[in-house]
Amino acid sequence: MDSTASPDAPIRIESFLGEGKGRSLAEDVREGLTRSFKELPPKHFYDTRGAELFERICELPEYYPTRAERAILDEFAGELVAITGAEEVVELGAGAATKTRVLLDALHATGVPARYVPMDVTESMVRELATELTETYPGMQVHGVIGDFERHLEYLPPSEGKRLVVFLGGTIGNFAPAPRREFLGKIAGLLQSGDHLLMGVDLVKDPEVLRAAYDDAQGVTAEFNRNLLHVLNRELDADFDPSDFDHVAVFDAEQEWIEMRLRSRRAHTVTVGALGMGVHFGAGEEMRTEISAKFTQARVTADLAASGLDLVRWLTDPEDRFALTLSRRSDA
Ligand SMILES: C[S@@+](CC[C@H](N)C(=O)[O-])C[C@H]1O[C@@H](n2cnc3c(N)ncnc32)[C@H](O)[C@@H]1O
Repeated sequence: MDSTASPDAPIRIESFLGEGKGRSLAEDVREGLTRSFKELPPKHFYDTRGAELFERICELPEYYPTRAERAILDEFAGELVAITGAEEVVELGAGAATKTRVLLDALHATGVPARYVPMDVTESMVRELATELTETYPGMQVHGVIGDFERHLEYLPPSEGKRLVVFLGGTIGNFAPAPRREFLGKIAGLLQSGDHLLMGVDLVKDPEVLRAAYDDAQGVTAEFNRNLLHVLNRELDADFDPSDFDHVAVFDAEQEWIEMRLRSRRAHTVTVGALGMGVHFGAGEEMRTEISAKFTQARVTADLAASGLDLVRWLTDPEDRFALTLSRRSDA
């Protein structure tokens, strides 16, 4: 672990992704690219460029989730702060925390000397966020954690007061159903009596609206998807030519999730130098790079219950496109 801190400074940063610890990219490539249906997890999109591309996606006309989630926060942030009595906000996959600021504004307005603990795999985002937020909110402590929430949750700092864990952007939809419940169970383990989880979920809706959100007219999402190949080239000395792959977004009506894939335009073999591996792609072969599950209230309630959490509030935007769920431990 690399730790940057001084006792009186409002910022503390810890990194669990240093040399040799990596983002599990090598294992994920060894495992995911040797399957008959190739697959890599979405966390590997997010180097600095990937994080910037995601911020651009959030501004796109087709990408309604960010605006919808923000509308809910605009309406309910004050109430959420009052219900939870939060003294610290722990955010998983914080990114640029653009919407979280609505919540932090409401928290700051109460005068509670809160602590904010953003966790993300993108180092630059965590560092920038810490600097920006301590300037925006004098008196707020920021303890940034550069880490993988699938592997490093137990390294989050011990609680310093009533905790609100925040998991926005519909990122929970990136988990398949069984790992999703397992992960929610681990989040429940971060909560004590009186603590809450605030989680954003994208809702089932017209498949064409969903698909367009992942295949915008300007091609920003396509660039974001192909950024994975740039990451593999840089981090693992691979020789992908991103222009050999088309961006594909499909809605799986049975599972009710969107899949992003990269489709090889021709039969060719890519070398992953750092792993001494050749990976063959057939013409038209697809590699899955993300699933983004869509939810109903019944599905979320069942997932939370199976993970030891009770739904306390279900808040939606005026057009019912997105929901924010507030939950707490069933045994608390
Ligand atoms: C869909 S974006 C959401 C960003 C932000 N929370 C929002 O609502 O706009 C997912 C975020 O989670 C981060 N992320 C994805 N997988 C992660 C993992 N396994 N561990 C930590 N952060 C992760 C990404 O870097 C990115 O910032």
